[in-house]
Amino acid sequence: MSEARKSAPKKMVVELEVNGTRHELLVEPRRTLLEVLREELGLTGAKEGCGLGACGTCTVLMDGRPVRACLTLAVEAQGASILTVEGLADTVADREPGALHPIQEAFVDAHGVQCGFCTPGMILAAKALLDEEPDPDEARIREALGGQVCRCTGYTKIVEAVKLAAHRLSGEEVEA
Ligand code: FES
Ligand code: FES
Repeated sequence: MSEARKSAPKKMVVELEVNGTRHELLVEPRRTLLEVLREELGLTGAKEGCGLGACGTCTVLMDGRPVRACLTLAVEAQGASILTVEGLADTVADREPGALHPIQEAFVDAHGVQCGFCTPGMILAAKALLDEEPDPDEARIREALGGQVCRCTGYTKIVEAVKLAAHRLSGEEVEA
């Protein structure tokens, strides 16, 4: 056997449920969840910003909790349920074809979609927060989004979008 063959990393089978679909993937143990989502499954909503756990652009939900997909090995996600921004709208029961999730709609209506790079992570961090705390105050929203970095525009519209989403999800009639 050649040296190259001998040193090739051994692959492992990882089972993941991603956006409601089960996948069995053969991955090298060093591959991150972010790489597997983007490169194996073609789900490019989660972005690589820093690759170091500092910016939050790679945030996805793992069993409902936000995780840094750039710091999570795919093998660590064995058996987990992963939600990416591509699957968010499908979590709404009986949604109209093509309709967005209410959090996505609120980001659009409150002008919280700014550059698009940080937006998927912001939206998923907001989803995790609102699933746990349907009526967070502004301080709590800022705390929950504290790990999501915006490098360009600022956080005011994003925080307003999360407040709007919270009101809408609670069934209140509010103007954007
Ligand atoms: S890319 Fe993962 S935290 Fe920045
Ligand atoms: S980095 Fe996305 S809006 Fe600033």
